[in-house]
Amino acid sequence: MKVDVLLGLQWGDEGKGKIVDVLTPKYEVVARFQGGPNAGHTLEFEGKKYVLRSVPSGIFQGNKINIIGNGVVLDPALFKGEIESLEASGHELTKRLLISKKAHLILPTHRLLDACYEAAKGDSKIGTTGKGIGPTYTDKISRNGLRVGDILHRFDEKYNAAKSKHLRILEQYGYDISALAEIEKEWFEGIAKLKEFTFIDSEHYINKAIKEDKMILAEGAQGTMLDIDFGSYPFVTSSNTIAAGACTGLGIAPKEVGEVFGIFKAYCTRVGSGPFPTELFDEVGDKLRKFGFEFGSVTGRPRRCGWIDLVALRYAIMVDGVTQLIMMKSDVLDTFETIKACVAYEIDGERVTEFPFEIDDNIKPIYIEMKGWQTDMTKMRNEEEFPQEFNDYVSFLEAELGVPIKIVSTGPDRDQTIVRK
Ligand code: GDP
Ligand code: IMO
Ligand code: MG
Repeated sequence: MKVDVLLGLQWGDEGKGKIVDVLTPKYEVVARFQGGPNAGHTLEFEGKKYVLRSVPSGIFQGNKINIIGNGVVLDPALFKGEIESLEASGHELTKRLLISKKAHLILPTHRLLDACYEAAKGDSKIGTTGKGIGPTYTDKISRNGLRVGDILHRFDEKYNAAKSKHLRILEQYGYDISALAEIEKEWFEGIAKLKEFTFIDSEHYINKAIKEDKMILAEGAQGTMLDIDFGSYPFVTSSNTIAAGACTGLGIAPKEVGEVFGIFKAYCTRVGSGPFPTELFDEVGDKLRKFGFEFGSVTGRPRRCGWIDLVALRYAIMVDGVTQLIMMKSDVLDTFETIKACVAYEIDGERVTEFPFEIDDNIKPIYIEMKGWQTDMTKMRNEEEFPQEFNDYVSFLEAELGVPIKIVSTGPDRDQTIVRK
């Protein structure tokens, strides 16, 4: 059996959590491969709504095994909060959630460093989620990080050494560390909570599961345009969000990757700073935000909204090797008279269809315009009910992107998901 990978193709918040939950009944293991509590994956079913940060989105579908892989960065304090709110709603996870010993720990001082570096950037802030993601991955790459497995052996010593390095940096910046004692207290309570879980060598576990023909789904966080290598650098996150990240983030060989599910919204959003060629600053953008309820699930920040960008999407599909597309939030466009799609960029008077090295204000999106379907699709349950204009939009996207759209999502609920034949 191969490992299927599910990931976002835009700037995050495409609806990955919802679709992992929908697909989980087909799988025995669901594993997160990168990112950390910068993610907010929303699931809705039976009238309830859950937002997951570090816990994989496969936990609500029976007794499936969920794994936090080595590529993930984990904040024990936020993890504790997440686990406790799941326990309060009747979801006990200690038996079905396994954590890689190689996942890196976000330390209290990483959070302060994140804020400190952002402040130091002045006008060119990334607009991070403030969860310490960048500094934690920086320490991982510079070989200064602490891992979950370190908790088991001489932990205080390792923690204090890492902390004092960070304090020296914060002191150089003159950054206020008065919040540290409180954050640290919660963090160590989080370490105690973390110890209730089983730490595993997840690469061994997953490769054994592959040999035993178990169905495995790898869950990505963020989106391809936030990838550290291929995203809109430097306005990106600090991990590889692309399909290859599933290999390094779980310890599976490229030949073990099966389907790559690429998720995108029928339009486009971004939260935080950075280029966004199709961003709308008018009432159409406001309408997308209002109807799509586009506010960050982690920070509550309003998401920037715009039309679908096929130049960026084609690029994402290329670097991810997407085999099936999943279109989310098409219902948000239900009332639009016309819908636009960016098919190319105009740069210095030239038409460009390949995603360029630099995206600046020089780029003008070239749009084609289509008639909207102006039909409430939220109660539809099969594709026979789809209006003609909607089918036209889907066929147009498939032709532009060269990959079939296999699932269409018409609302936030688990049930508002239609598989196309
Ligand atoms: P993720 O980070 O990719 O898991 O996505 P988020 O959970 O951050 O953001 C997606 C938001 O859209 C959540 O509030 C979902 O409940 C919601 N959502 C998902 N699919 C649909 C859909 O098809 N229609 C609508 N209207 N909302 C959706
Ligand atoms: P999910 O998994 C949307 C964005 C931040 C910021 C940049 C860097 O829910 O799709 P970071 O805190 O990672 O250093 O911030 O990346 N960002 C996200 N945007 N969805 C996410 O996750 C994101 N995770 C990070 O807004 O622009
Ligand atoms: Mg999200």
